[in-house]
Amino acid sequence: MNSKTSILHVIGVFAFLLAGVTGALVCLHAQAQNAGRRPSNVEIATFPSAWTYRPGTPAPSAQNAMVASNCALATKAGVEILRAGGNAVDAAVAVGFALAVAYPEAGNLGGGGYAVLRMADGREAALDYRETAPAGAAPKMYIGRDGKPTDQSLVGHRASGVPGSVAGLLALLDKYGSMNRAQVMAPAIRLARDGVTVDAILRTSIAENADLIKRFAGAALFLPGGQPPAVGAHLVQADLAATLGQIAAHGSDGFYRGEVADAIAREMQRGGGILTARDLASYQPVWRDPLKGSYRGYGLLSMPPSSSGGVTVIETLNILETYKDVPAWNSALGLHRLASAFQRAFVDRNTSLGDPAFTKMPIQRMTGKAYAQSLRASLSDARAAATSTLKAIGSEGTQTTNYCVVDRNGNAVGVTTTINSLYGSGVWIPGAGVFMNNQMDDFTVQPGTPNQFGLVQGEANGIVPGKRMLSAMAPTIVLDSAGKVWMIVGGRGGPRIITAVVQAIVNAIDYRMPLADAVGAPRIHDQALPDVLEYEKDGVPADVIRALEAKGWKTRPGGTGSLTAIKRTIAGSKPAWEGLFDPRKHGLAAGY
Ligand code: GLY
Repeated sequence: MNSKTSILHVIGVFAFLLAGVTGALVCLHAQAQNAGRRPSNVEIATFPSAWTYRPGTPAPSAQNAMVASNCALATKAGVEILRAGGNAVDAAVAVGFALAVAYPEAGNLGGGGYAVLRMADGREAALDYRETAPAGAAPKMYIGRDGKPTDQSLVGHRASGVPGSVAGLLALLDKYGSMNRAQVMAPAIRLARDGVTVDAILRTSIAENADLIKRFAGAALFLPGGQPPAVGAHLVQADLAATLGQIAAHGSDGFYRGEVADAIAREMQRGGGILTARDLASYQPVWRDPLKGSYRGYGLLSMPPSSSGGVTVIETLNILETYKDVPAWNSALGLHRLASAFQRAFVDRNTSLGDPAFTKMPIQRMTGKAYAQSLRASLSDARAAATSTLKAIGSEGTQTTNYCVVDRNGNAVGVTTTINSLYGSGVWIPGAGVFMNNQMDDFTVQPGTPNQFGLVQGEANGIVPGKRMLSAMAPTIVLDSAGKVWMIVGGRGGPRIITAVVQAIVNAIDYRMPLADAVGAPRIHDQALPDVLEYEKDGVPADVIRALEAKGWKTRPGGTGSLTAIKRTIAGSKPAWEGLFDPRKHGLAAGY
C-alpha cells in the first residue's frame, strides 16, 4: 500500500464514504399555492427484513416552510430566519454560515459549494462557488520522485484550493435574498461567539478525526488536553466569531482581503502551501444556468459543471426512462438496469467533464434523450458489460453536506457544500478559526490513478491554475408536470451523491415511495471504475445478488451517500412539506 492508498483507506473510508460533503436544500413553498393539490399518492415500500430502516416511518412535515440539513443548530438557524420573514435564500445563507460553526467536519468558510434555486416567480439559477486551483498550482504537483501520487493533495497546506464559500453565500444573498448580512449571519455569529454545547455527534466526529486535527493548529481548540471535548462541554470559537464579524461588516472583502486573508496566506506560507493573498483577492463565484432535464414527466433542475452531479444524474435518468416498464423494486432486473445506467453515465463523467472555462464538453448531447437511446442499444437485460468494453462519449474538443430550504412563498433552494474530506486538509488557520479544504484531490492528480473516492478520471479534469476541480455534488430540484417544486434533494459522499440522488428520485417517482422510504431504502452504487456493483449490506436479498452475479456483475457490500431532502406532501387534508435528513446520518428537518 503506498502512502496515497493508505490515506485513501484511513481518511477515505471514515471521512468520505460517511460524508465529506455536506449539503443542504432549502425549500420554501407557499401553502396557498398548493391548496387543493392532489395527495401525492404514495405507496409504502417493502424493504428486505434485515434492512435497518423500517418502511412507512413518517418524515417531519410543516405547512409553510421547511429546512433540512445535517446539523440541528444550522436547521434551527434557517427556521429562525424564515420565521423572521426571510425568504428561502436568506435562510439558506444563514444555514450555510451556521454550518461553518456548528458542523466543522463539513460546514465551512474554507471550502466551496454549489446552489440550485427556483424562485416562486419562475426565476431559476445555479451558483458555482467551487474552489479554484491557486496560481502556483501545476499539473504534476502531487507526483512524487518515485512517479507515484503523494498524500499532499489530501493532507496539509498544499491540498487547498482557493475557498469559494464566503463569496458564494454572499452572492446568493445579494441577488436573491431579502435580508441584510447582519441579519442572516446573526445566528452563526451567536453560535461562534457564545459557544455551542458539544453533543455526542460533534464529539464523535472530532474523536474519529483526531489523528488529522492534531497535526495542525486546530488541535488546541478541538482537542483540549489532547482529547475531544466531552459531551456537554462548551465550545466557543472566538477566532471564527471575529472572522464572521469581519464578513458581516465588510462583505467579501472581510474574508478575501485584509486581516482574515492575511492570516490564511501567512499560515499557508508557513506550512509550505501555495495559496496566496493574491489568489484569495482574485476569487469569483460564477452564476450558471441550471442544467435542465426531465424524467417521466417531471422536470429536473440540477448543477452543471464544474460539478459532474447534474450531468450524471440526468444522463442516468434518461437511460432509465428509455424503459417503458418499471421492474419490481430491488429486483435483479431493476438493479441491473440501474447499475448499467450508472456505469455508462460514469464512463462519460470520468473522461469528459471538467471546468467549462478550461474544458469543452458535449453537455447537451450527454443530457439528451437521443444519446440515452443510443446507450440503451448497448445495454442487454441479460448480461452486464465490463467497464473496459464501454466507450466514452468522446470529447468535442478536447465530505460534504447538503441542505434544502423551501419558504412560504414558493422559493426553493438546494445547496451542497464541502471541504472535501471531513475537516478538509486538517489545516486550521490561527486567527481566522477556519479549517481549509483539501479539494485539490478532486482534480485528476494522475490519469489512471484513483482519487480518495476511487474515481479514475482523465485529462479533462487535470490541474491548471485558476481551474475548478470536477465535483460530484448534485443539488437537484424536481418539478411536477405543472412546473411546481415537488422535491429538493442533494447529498454528501463524493460520487455516491450521484447514485443516491438518482435512487431517491426513482423511488419517489417510479415506486411512489413517501420521502422517508425513498431516502431510507437500501441503495446500490456503480461508478464504472472500479468495475464493481456495490450494495448496502442487508439491503439486497442474497438471491438477487446471485442473479446479478449470474448476469456478470462483480458485487460487494459498500457505502452510499447521505441525503437531505424536502418533498411536497399532504398532512391531514392540507398541503405541506415533508423534510428529511438521511437516517444513515444525523441532522434535523424542521419548519413551521
Ligand atoms: N469533494 C467531493 C466532490 O466535490 O464531489
